[in-house]
Parts: sequence; structure tokens; C-alpha cells
Amino acid sequence: MADKNGGTMRLDRFLAEMGEGTRSQIRDAAKNGRIAVNGILEKRSDRKIDPEADQVTVDGRPVQYAAYEYYMLNKPQGVVSATEDKRYTTVVELIAERKRTDLFPVGRLDIDTEGLLLITNDGDLAHRLLSPKKHVDKRYLAVAEGTLPADAAQRFKEGITLEDGTVTLPAELEEGGVAAAEPHRSAYILTIREGKFHQVKRMFEALGCRVIYLKRLSMGSLMLDEDLEPGQYRPLTEEELKKLKEGCT
Ligand code: URA
Repeated sequence: MADKNGGTMRLDRFLAEMGEGTRSQIRDAAKNGRIAVNGILEKRSDRKIDPEADQVTVDGRPVQYAAYEYYMLNKPQGVVSATEDKRYTTVVELIAERKRTDLFPVGRLDIDTEGLLLITNDGDLAHRLLSPKKHVDKRYLAVAEGTLPADAAQRFKEGITLEDGTVTLPAELEEGGVAAAEPHRSAYILTIREGKFHQVKRMFEALGCRVIYLKRLSMGSLMLDEDLEPGQYRPLTEEELKKLKEGCT
């Protein structure tokens, strides 16, 4: 993967970005002869290396550089969309294979919402995906208590007024994505093009229905891989990343 610094970088920065400790810990490790570059022990942690070409090891273990990482997570319930939290496990902590220490979730899903969440350190892509100007589609499966009124699809299409007076952009409602498992419950697929706080739940509330289960199915061109159980993740494929980037230039 490309080096976003475009060439050489300091050895201590390289190792800190790859989660090998703070710069002072890395300096000590170098002094103690634990770090090698291209097989030769390196005592100067401030020297420059080429992260793509040079082979760096810590205690003999190779450290691969990744300028950017992109993971698709099927977010489970009970986990927060944050980088750190005192009470709850965060979505970033679920990415056990992560190399970088600066990963974050692109947008937020509520603690009780499941489904697609992109985890990356690519701030530029995140910014573009979340920009209110780009209107990136987000598709959700929502199971509601009761049934939406017969004219719900039309009202969502026209944009509806939330309880605080804000009016949503047009959204698309499809009925019965899957059969709701129990009577008095209905399943819908809703596509929205913005990301207001609790937006889907509030849109349903505005039409008199409570959402009892919510799962994000897609964001732009990126679709949740249905092989991923809640809590599982995988890196994005090159193709998925390319399409996602193209969709929000
Ligand atoms: N809308 C919601 O209400 N909750 C989410 O987590 C995402 C969209």
C-alpha cells in the first residue's frame, strides 16, 4: 500500500504508527539493540527509512508498514462507535488485526444498531463519505413495532419533519425486506442520504412507529458482506475501495 508520506520517514514514527510503542519506548528499544533495519541493528531511532523498501524488525519480528487500513465491520449490538470508551468495547477494539493506532469509525451507529461500519485511518475518504454535500446513500433494514401508515413511502420521499422541526432529505422506503419474525412487527428497507443523530429511528417515530431493530446494509457502493457475523470484520477488497472512492469524489 502507498506510503502517504511519499518517501522516507523517521524510524520512530514508522514504529509508533504501527503500534510498537511511544517514541521514547522505541528510542529505548533501539538503544537496547532490539530494532534492526535490513538485518543490521539500528541504535538511532530518529534515522530515516523508506517504509516500502526497508525491512524493519523489532526483536527479530518483521513490522510491515500500512499507510492506510480499511476494514468492513459488521458492528454487533452493545459496542460503541468510538475509538475509546470507559464503559463499553469500541468498534476499533474489535479489529484485532489492526496495524495502525489511528483507526476510527466512519460515522456512528447507535449502540443497539448492527451492520456495516467502515473502520479506517483515511480521514480524507471519511470526510467525503460523511459530507452533507455528497449525499451518500445509506441503506438500513428496520424492524418496527406496528406498521407504518399506508402513505409512509410518499411522506419519506417528500421529506418529513422530525420532532425538533428539522426536515429530512427525501428518503426511499421499501416494504418487507425480510419477513418480520413476529406478529405486530413490520420490516422495511430505508435509504437515507444524510446522517442526522438517530435519524432512522426519529423518522419512524415521526410516523408513529418505534424501531426495535436496526441494521445498516450499505453505505454508498459498499455493501455489508453477509458472510460476516455480528462482530466479524475483513479488509476491504481493492475493488470495493476503488468504487467507494469513485462514488464520493
Ligand atoms: N439511524 C438511527 O436511528 N440509528 C443509527 O444507528 C443509524 C441511523
